Amino acid sequence: MSNTILSLSHITVRYGQMTALRDASIHVDKGEVVCIIGPNGAGKSTMLAAAAGGAPVVSGNIQFNDKAITGVAPEKIARLGISLVPEGRHVFGSLTVEENLQIAGYIQKDSGQAKQDVERVLTYFPRLRERLKFPAGRLSGGEQQMLAIGRALMTRAKLIMVDEPSLGLAPKIIDQIYQILLDIRRTEGLTLLINEQSSSRILKHADRIYVLRGGVIQLEGRAADLADGEAIREAYFGFQHSDARETQQ
Ligand SMILES: Nc1ncnc2c1ncn2[C@@H]1O[C@H](COP(=O)(O)OP(=O)(O)OP(=O)(O)O)[C@@H](O)[C@H]1O
Ligand SMILES: [Mg+2]
Repeated sequence: MSNTILSLSHITVRYGQMTALRDASIHVDKGEVVCIIGPNGAGKSTMLAAAAGGAPVVSGNIQFNDKAITGVAPEKIARLGISLVPEGRHVFGSLTVEENLQIAGYIQKDSGQAKQDVERVLTYFPRLRERLKFPAGRLSGGEQQMLAIGRALMTRAKLIMVDEPSLGLAPKIIDQIYQILLDIRRTEGLTLLINEQSSSRILKHADRIYVLRGGVIQLEGRAADLADGEAIREAYFGFQHSDARETQQ
């Protein structure tokens, strides 16, 4: 068994005439926190969708735990242990926090186990415990993001992919969510693949970074080696841009 949990090799994805990913390769090792950074329309969501079985992959190979999953149905991939928290934190707004968690758990186990897992999720997210009987639609953006991640945890996935967890959230809440994700990684040996539009808050949390632009991987490296942000800015904007420091917060 290799140390790699997920690999996408030479992936090309097309939506009709539109090429969203072009010969793109990434891998994620067990226990790593890997972040894909890229501007609007770079192909970040498409990359996660490809891994989850929900993108029109025209060429390339996808492997999870050394098993080929290219072309495998999304439900089957979910059962193998990959969970996707989509952009926009989809929760059932009219159901309570508790019901949202329970439903996510029922997919693959009995209600006894689901109960235990609700408890497990609530230990990571005390904030959700306070809101347990609230309709999810009345939660703040940060709380809804926590609930969306909590729902992914209910499936006991080995790899959780989170699409833009920071979107629209205050810096303090973003850091809080990352701290919880890192805590879960440490406690459960989870692996995380995260999309973000901006690198500023991510560099300190991620182990490794990919910069994606125009459907092409522009840069790959360890976060520690990219800490000054220079190489990332260049890859992100496609040219040396002295004002980029201010643009990319
Ligand atoms: N279902 C679809 N049908 C047609 N084109 C699509 C579809 N989904 C994405 N695209 C196009 O593919 C390209 C990559 O989109 P994708 O959503 O993967 O980018 P992204 O990096 O996640 O962007 P954002 O930061 O805005 O979320 C874009 O040009 C987008 O318009
Ligand atoms: Mg996206």
